[in-house]
Amino acid sequence: MERIIVTEDGSHSLYSDLFNQQYHSLQGALTESLHIYIELGLRPILEESAITVNVFEMGLGTGLNALLAWQLADELKKKIYFTSVEAFPVLAEEASLLNYESLTNREGLLRLHTVSWATDHELSPYFTFRKEHTLLQNFSSEHLFHVIFYDAFDPRAQPELWTDEIFTKIAGYSHDGAVLVTYSSKGIVKRALVAGGFQVKRHKGPGRKTHVLKAVKL
Ligand SMILES: C[S@@+](CC[C@H](N)C(=O)[O-])C[C@H]1O[C@@H](n2cnc3c(N)ncnc32)[C@H](O)[C@@H]1O
Repeated sequence: MERIIVTEDGSHSLYSDLFNQQYHSLQGALTESLHIYIELGLRPILEESAITVNVFEMGLGTGLNALLAWQLADELKKKIYFTSVEAFPVLAEEASLLNYESLTNREGLLRLHTVSWATDHELSPYFTFRKEHTLLQNFSSEHLFHVIFYDAFDPRAQPELWTDEIFTKIAGYSHDGAVLVTYSSKGIVKRALVAGGFQVKRHKGPGRKTHVLKAVKL
């Protein structure tokens, strides 16, 4: 079991003993997810799109980003096909203790954790969910993605997930013009994204975090 922590906005996060990392910013898990993945990454594309938006998430983790994407799809009545990879899944018992459903007024977190792997699940008329139990390094896709939530643990903890090769591979299963958002604005991350074929821009981060990144596949 991971350890549950309470972040500054009152939302829960988990602490991974395996990686010595928390799953979200201590300044606020929900605030971070909404700011970076939903408002900066997903909403602008989803609002404009007349077709199903394919979203790829690196690291399902607690399921918070996926739950918020599902909520936005239903709210806007726009279709999302959401794929998440996760190599070290959170236990359902543990996910059931997280306070995201009450904070977002949105049910469904447990379903994200209990549905079967490697199968498409139509969780609502607007949200189809698929999760792959694999290392990102071994993932490939026949779908091309429009939005990428890049939510790996910190580059210091997992440098192998922030390399030129990784972002080149991700670019290979992304549409031209696809948007990748991530919380890390470190120099090595920017350089690896550029080497992978993305144009990178810094944006204001949530709370006291100065910058996050939004990258566009060229
Ligand atoms: C920062 S957390 C993700 C947080 C998540 N997006 C959320 O909304 O809670 C990073 C996740 O990546 C997973 N992970 C670590 N190494 C991985 C790898 N090589 N391939 C796939 N998943 C990995 C971890 O188990 C963890 O769940």
